[in-house]
Amino acid sequence: MKVIEKPALMQQACRQVARPLALVATMGALHKGHAALIRHARKIAGPQGTVAVSVFLNPKQFNSAQDLKLYPQPFEADKALCEEAGADVLFHPSVEDIYLSDHSINVEETKLARVLCGVSRPGHFTGVATVVTKIFNIVTPDKVVFGEKDWQQLAIVRRLVSDLNFPIEVIGYPTVRELDYLAMSSRNTRLSSQERAVSPKIYAALQQAAEQVSSGEKKVAVLLAATRASLEVIPGATIDYVEIMNEETLEPISEIAQVSKPRLFVAVKLGETRLIDNISLHAV
Ligand code: PAF
Repeated sequence: MKVIEKPALMQQACRQVARPLALVATMGALHKGHAALIRHARKIAGPQGTVAVSVFLNPKQFNSAQDLKLYPQPFEADKALCEEAGADVLFHPSVEDIYLSDHSINVEETKLARVLCGVSRPGHFTGVATVVTKIFNIVTPDKVVFGEKDWQQLAIVRRLVSDLNFPIEVIGYPTVRELDYLAMSSRNTRLSSQERAVSPKIYAALQQAAEQVSSGEKKVAVLLAATRASLEVIPGATIDYVEIMNEETLEPISEIAQVSKPRLFVAVKLGETRLIDNISLHAV
């Protein structure tokens, strides 16, 4: 596996690699969820194609300097995981190389980014869309794999690719979970042992809503109230949002049957750590 730091060298290398070129964009602190994305990229690139991974801790998408500072950067371990999962090229640029000191262009999504995490994290998705655009221009992937845990981010990347005419196929990959169903996230390591112990209750609340829908409940207000009630009793938990939306447009709905693909989204703070998760409410 080749490690490239300079954007110009990465761009040059990517022009010469065997296609298809599949990319997994990350901020590092990689875990088994990322490994699954990289293995999937390997599968879709095929034995002849190329898999690139980017590891770049993007300061533009953090709302607080403290949150950025707390983000772990175990680069040697990240490198080993990428290699093990089948990556061919690892792009690891510096902040100075990505953001020139006089840069003045941002990429802003103006609809999907205004709800859910966009409300509590103003500017976050502009930071994401800007860096993803830059990484796409540098790597020029044919396919990109993004995790469904960050469903809103995935929806915004799909929008970005179609609105800005990137010739890229966007592939969503199902959320990878711990054995107790906590969604894997680089932030999970920040949970205290007590917080970690109660954290699976978040997904349990989502599953409860999916079961209610399977048993015939159609009213969004009823489902939201039940989910809130389950989340509120988790020790140390503060609810940021609980919403049910059309999973494609991220528009709120009032009846499950109103759309073909309803999805429940939650963000919960456990102590100081903000966790997000989501589940399809498509009745089976
Ligand atoms: O999901 C992430 O890790 C980041 O938001 C991304 C897509 C790599 C952009 O910095």
